[in-house]
Amino acid sequence: MVPAELMKIAYYSSREKRGKMRSQEWKRQDLYKLESKYCSYGDTVHYAAAPPLFNSCEGSWLFDMKGTPYLDMQMWYSAVNFGYRNKEIEAAHNLQMSTLPQLASQYLHKEKILLATSIAKATQKSFGTKGRIHFNVGGAQAVEDSLKLIRNYKQGKSLMFAFMGGYHGRTLATSELTSSFRYRRRFGHFSNRAYFVPFPYCFRCFYEETRSKCNYECVKQFERLFETEYFGIWDMKGNEAEYAAFYIEPMQATGGYMIPPPEYFTRLSAVLQRYGILLVDDEIQMGFYRTGKLWAAEHFGIKPDVIVFAKSLTNGLNPLSGLWAREEMISPHVFPPGSTHSTFSSNPLGTAAGLATMEYLRNNDFETIVPEKGAYLLSGLRKMQEKCRNIGDVDGLGLALRIEMTKPDGFTPDRKLTDVIFQEGIKGDIKFGSKKYGLVLDVGGYYKNAFTLAPALTITYDEMDLFLNLFGELLKRCGCQ
Ligand SMILES: Cc1ncc(COP(=O)(O)O)c(C=O)c1O
Repeated sequence: MVPAELMKIAYYSSREKRGKMRSQEWKRQDLYKLESKYCSYGDTVHYAAAPPLFNSCEGSWLFDMKGTPYLDMQMWYSAVNFGYRNKEIEAAHNLQMSTLPQLASQYLHKEKILLATSIAKATQKSFGTKGRIHFNVGGAQAVEDSLKLIRNYKQGKSLMFAFMGGYHGRTLATSELTSSFRYRRRFGHFSNRAYFVPFPYCFRCFYEETRSKCNYECVKQFERLFETEYFGIWDMKGNEAEYAAFYIEPMQATGGYMIPPPEYFTRLSAVLQRYGILLVDDEIQMGFYRTGKLWAAEHFGIKPDVIVFAKSLTNGLNPLSGLWAREEMISPHVFPPGSTHSTFSSNPLGTAAGLATMEYLRNNDFETIVPEKGAYLLSGLRKMQEKCRNIGDVDGLGLALRIEMTKPDGFTPDRKLTDVIFQEGIKGDIKFGSKKYGLVLDVGGYYKNAFTLAPALTITYDEMDLFLNLFGELLKRCGCQ
């Protein structure tokens, strides 16, 4: 199923790398030993006891040191939406490498200006609003910049709403917006913990409604907070909320790829407008056509005041990130020079890759391709669900899909089973036809029982079929019923 050419690329690139860059042949066990001695485990999740050691990549595939192909169904948490080593984006990056790879961000280069123009124009087309683009590196840093922008615009108001299950980063400030206490427990508070509101996770509705009979109780309960000053949110005399903005992910990502019911965000947004609260749309994981639109918020009929983006902006070649904000909030006399600064913000390798990404989006009709592929994968998963009592829920929007693993009752979360399937997937020994494969999955969800699928938007139909077969093999191997 893996084209022979891909196998060759993996084999030769790993040999070439070894020959050129290392005089010594590294053995996996030696590398694991060095890792356990010299690498901090605090900078990543370290889910797997012995994570695979990868050596090369192409399209939807990662290859380990032996050349075993792993079909990647999470693509670096959506940082590589357009396939590993995408030729067009890589070429633009490499060309920049040989012309102007380094430049202090106080000076200008055309790729920065053209990239900002391209994102601002595309966003104006999506929402009809004029705005500007502000760059940084890393998703959490861009979220931090958005906090500064909001606090500045709202004259120092520092309290925010965010969703239960939301994820906006793990720096000290963004940990206040990310709902899990686990990320704050060891470090105390840096600023102000957000007020966390239930996300419309319809499969396990907080208000015990069902999707088919939804009365939007979640929005009603949220609006009740503004009923009297004694609920601690609203000053009726001053006609003012203590909270500045609501941070949303239109489709909750790390929380488990949950799709809100159709009117949820229009109703919520009406409440926010009534009480003068800004809407910040975190598109770091769901942006750049993961759901079939440039911004996932476009599915839900809302107009954000601020949009934060990162990851696939450069298809994972460079940690460039940024935000878009309405002109009135970000024009230079409101948000003046030096409001934020980072040496590497708008670095030329990042802006060149970003510009090539925007060009790639113009040349490929992802608005059509992504929903078609997503529907194909979802229908395969629904068929699988019919035969497997351990799959409680499957759903998807574009190529962001979820599989929720449960006990055979179809509802009780089964975290252990999910973990076993994940661990078996990365062993790299799933037999299909005459070959052995690995499967790279990501586990999310409130109960750590949801596979959040984010394949390359360039995934082929053969690769989607292969995934369904490999996942089916894993379910059998792990004793699913
Ligand atoms: C929705 C969302 N916001 C923010 C972040 C933080 O981005 P980074 O990991 O680049 O700091 C992530 C990362 O997964 C994310 O998914």
